[in-house]
Amino acid sequence: MESIYKSDVVIVGSGISGLMTAVSLYPRKVTLVTKRKLGEMSSSAWAQGGIAAAVTKNDSPEIHFQDTLKASSGLSNEKAIKIITKDALDIVNFLEKIGVLFDKTNGEYTLSKEAAHTYRRVLKINGDQSGKFLVNHLINFAKKQGHITFVEDISIDHIIQKNNKCHGIMGHIHKDEAVDNFVFFQSPNVILATGGIGSIYAHTTNPRDVYGESIAMAAQVGAELVDLEFVQFHPTALDVGIDPAPLLTEAIRGEGAYIVDENNFRFIFKDHESGELAPRDIVSRSIHRHKEKGHSTFLDCRHFNFDFHLMFPTASQYLIEASINPSKDLIPIIPAAHYHMGGIKVDEDGKTSVDGLWACGECSSTGAHGANRLASNSLLEAFVFSKRIAKKINSEPPKQSHNLINIENYIPKEKTISKIRAKKYIWQLRSTMNKFVGVERNQNSLEQAFVEFSRIERETERLSAKLKDMLLVSKLITFAAMQRKESRGTHFRTDYPNKDNTLLKRNVFNHVDLLNYLNTKFDMAN
Ligand code: SIN
Repeated sequence: MESIYKSDVVIVGSGISGLMTAVSLYPRKVTLVTKRKLGEMSSSAWAQGGIAAAVTKNDSPEIHFQDTLKASSGLSNEKAIKIITKDALDIVNFLEKIGVLFDKTNGEYTLSKEAAHTYRRVLKINGDQSGKFLVNHLINFAKKQGHITFVEDISIDHIIQKNNKCHGIMGHIHKDEAVDNFVFFQSPNVILATGGIGSIYAHTTNPRDVYGESIAMAAQVGAELVDLEFVQFHPTALDVGIDPAPLLTEAIRGEGAYIVDENNFRFIFKDHESGELAPRDIVSRSIHRHKEKGHSTFLDCRHFNFDFHLMFPTASQYLIEASINPSKDLIPIIPAAHYHMGGIKVDEDGKTSVDGLWACGECSSTGAHGANRLASNSLLEAFVFSKRIAKKINSEPPKQSHNLINIENYIPKEKTISKIRAKKYIWQLRSTMNKFVGVERNQNSLEQAFVEFSRIERETERLSAKLKDMLLVSKLITFAAMQRKESRGTHFRTDYPNKDNTLLKRNVFNHVDLLNYLNTKFDMAN
């Protein structure tokens, strides 16, 4: 059975980027497709931080710009940083206009302090529940607008492209991978907004569905990719064996929490004078190395003299479920894959290198985060660039709907056969990424990762579309990590431990470059 939807624009994903693009496209006819229910399983809804914006007297977009630039480790697109830091206040105003209530104390914003920000600058909602409130608010607002058709429970398999032009996307009913329930969304504009890649790692703070499917789909239609080697590990995920690992927001350290080992030693100071509030990559590496030496690592909030539960309701709930009392107990932590700075290469309007294909949010890479993202700049970037995509599309007359597609040609010939057996291999793949392409990597570990990918691929042919996408994304990231023979930001190579400014260039490549490499080096075909 097939269904066909036609619209001027189709958006994949219902986190902040997808929703914000959809509402900003008003009155253009839009279809928004999502794998589960609206907002469900999106990283946005899980965001505990908030939105970074220079709203205080001493602060300014220029200081925010400088902080972002400094964190980015020299590799960013300064124009993109200018755009997000300058537009931050407009986004806050827009959100307040549609009824979002940021936390305030005596009429002033209650701002969090997060690492490497000069000032308290992060606007939040109900403590650490910013993402949840923002997503719910946008969903309610979007539903009232009337120009958006929402289609839930659909997995997108691929982009329909002919002569470097997008014509839509093809998907299937999410629960029925093995059944012929194909859905075709015909549209000259496809916007990818499915979030990052966290779930290709064994330790991640991202929802299970977030494994880079947009990168995989865009790669397969030849889109340029950029900076894929830069994966940000959040230093403080709760390490109690829950998958995904619950995030303990950086704002907890902003309020003075320590990171200690089993001897109550605040070991981060060995690596950086700012200790717990050093840039995220440094804190994560420091924890990783301390663990490698056999130490235990903890967040210590025992000295807090405020109500932890009131300030951090989400984190508090996780701790209650793990029977941890933050006023008495040390909290076990581990670095976990949290955010991907790399992604589908887009310009300042969110356009990819494929005509009619756009990307925003974490699956895209504008260059605003460079090699290391400053906390709470991601929701900001998602809002700002979603608006820009919408503005650009709205400034152009609707394109002719394309009728030259024969859908039959795009229905997959081979069906995948077993999601259950795939689970074992998905876990092997995630462990491989953690071990060999994680917080630290080197030539040997990256080659070892390719050997594992090859074995997993051989043993799992046609097992699961998700695993296939995860394998492709893992290979692309590993390939990117091999190419960058230096250490910069979140990309740390133990065999090249220093920055090499002769390599100070964003790393752009496409799927064909990966294929050529695999063919010559590993005899792997895709
Ligand atoms: C956090 O709350 O620590 C995460 C914020 C972010 O990643 O920007």
